[in-house]
Amino acid sequence: MGKCCKCNRRLLCMCLLPCMMTGHLLIYIMVSIFVTISYTPPKITIHYIAPGFSANSSALASHPIGPFWNLRLEDGALWNQLQHVWDRQHNPILRGNTTGVIRKPRAKLLTEIEDECLSDCRSHKCSVPRMHDLNSLPEQMRAFIRSMHCREYPLLINQPGMCRRNNGSFGLEAPMLLMAIKSQVGNFENRQAIRETWGRSGLVKGESNRKGELVYTVFLLGRQDSSTGPHPDLKNLLDLENQKYGDILQWDFRDTFFNLTLKDLLFWHWLQQYCPTAIFVFKGDDDVFVRTGALLDYLHKQWDEHNLWRAYTNETGMDLFVGDVINNAMPNREPSTKYYIPERFYKGIYPPYAGGGGVVYSGSLALRLKEVSERVRLFPIDDVYLGMCLHKLGLSPHHHPGFLTFDLPETDKGNPCAYRSVLLVHRRSPKEMLMLWRQLQNLPGPMKVARNVPFLQRFP
Ligand SMILES: *[C@@H]1O[C@H](CO)[C@@H](O)[C@H](O)[C@H]1NC(C)=O
Ligand SMILES: *[C@@H]1O[C@H](CO)[C@@H](O)[C@H](O)[C@H]1NC(C)=O
Ligand SMILES: *[C@@H]1O[C@H](CO)[C@@H](O)[C@H](O)[C@H]1NC(C)=O
Ligand SMILES: *[C@@H]1O[C@H](CO)[C@@H](O)[C@H](O)[C@H]1NC(C)=O
Ligand SMILES: *[C@@H]1O[C@H](CO)[C@@H](O)[C@H](O)[C@H]1NC(C)=O
Repeated sequence: MGKCCKCNRRLLCMCLLPCMMTGHLLIYIMVSIFVTISYTPPKITIHYIAPGFSANSSALASHPIGPFWNLRLEDGALWNQLQHVWDRQHNPILRGNTTGVIRKPRAKLLTEIEDECLSDCRSHKCSVPRMHDLNSLPEQMRAFIRSMHCREYPLLINQPGMCRRNNGSFGLEAPMLLMAIKSQVGNFENRQAIRETWGRSGLVKGESNRKGELVYTVFLLGRQDSSTGPHPDLKNLLDLENQKYGDILQWDFRDTFFNLTLKDLLFWHWLQQYCPTAIFVFKGDDDVFVRTGALLDYLHKQWDEHNLWRAYTNETGMDLFVGDVINNAMPNREPSTKYYIPERFYKGIYPPYAGGGGVVYSGSLALRLKEVSERVRLFPIDDVYLGMCLHKLGLSPHHHPGFLTFDLPETDKGNPCAYRSVLLVHRRSPKEMLMLWRQLQNLPGPMKVARNVPFLQRFP
């Protein structure tokens, strides 16, 4: 009896224990399933394709939002192909890591050599993009393709102290407006006319604003001497000019039409290093006329509005880019023209861009453009390149009717009153600049040009 009882108990134990364990396991599984089903993951608010964002560069859009430039590789347009490779390299979804985006690509891609070239393009180990039938293209296109991997050129003439030198005498630190004017070595007359009229450095009064604003002017030059073509040697004259005015920036590259993009790029580098506090930047050509006072009034208004806005949002970056905006432009396919872009080089329409002689953008946007330009292949037409960089940031330029790329009607050109609503007009000779400047000084009454809502429209 006792033995059997013991036997029973052991049987019971052997039976019951596994049953209980299985039961527990079942309960555990059911609870787990229940928890998994009822769990909702936290909402992730990362925008890979940025609709607009703060000034933080790590939040930049990393992939074009719309295919302005055709992204299909098989199309065979050189720029599109090269851009495509970069877009893939910098795409955080494909790369799976958004930090260090501009660093070395993880996969060994055909352009790795070129990436080295970006920082070391003078070492001649760089591969020039290959393109069949290169020799059938016009000379300037060929020259561009041969050097388009290279975007670092040393400064020959620098102004390292420009934005620091006057913090005592003016009692202001940051220039309200930095005017960066693309010029060429030989254009002494244009530069001097600009210095004497609309491009004066120092405290400049607005037209309705009594208080002066700090304005600096620099001229952006490449090289034009016997080593870059049949040019007379003007180096000594240029040095003299720079000694007197201290407003020349010159880089060591051939100053040609298709190299103008380099001036934007290198100017942004310079700005970041030597004048990052500039509030606004005007970038223009040396054959335009600007009503600087009216422009300052306009910018002042934008700045006040921005500060008001900032007080509520803590948003420090300001996105302003205004000019004469051109939408849906097609590349010029006429081989005899200056703007000719062959279909083998670029396919697609151009993103919205501001053309014609001059644009104004905020200093903080300039720094972001510099950053994003490292992911946009050089394009031979500078205005279009700016449009591409803006597009890459998810922004589009704002149109302002005061920027007259195509001048006033012929009958109004000589009439000072016709300039009331003008901020910039293209084109004026040095002599015309001086005359117009004098006429406009005597123009009676305050001129109203300010318009609202200049902040960049963001993509939806
Ligand atoms: C900007 O990004 C950096 C890292 O990329 C981060 O440390 C910093 O907090 C960010 N700033 C803002 C304002 O989001
Ligand atoms: C992303 O890249 C950075 C630097 O390249 C690295 O430190 C980090 O660990 C990476 N993160 C992931 C999730 O791979
Ligand atoms: C100019 O700025 C520098 C650096 O910010 C500062 O050390 C110096 O005291 C300033 N000079 C004057 C005269 O305010
Ligand atoms: C641009 O400048 C570089 C450096 O001087 C030169 O090699 C290249 O040919 C120039 N490009 C054009 C299109 O002139
Ligand atoms: C703005 O910044 C201040 C100080 O840094 C902080 O106290 C405040 O909460 C911020 N406001 C917003 C709306 O982020």
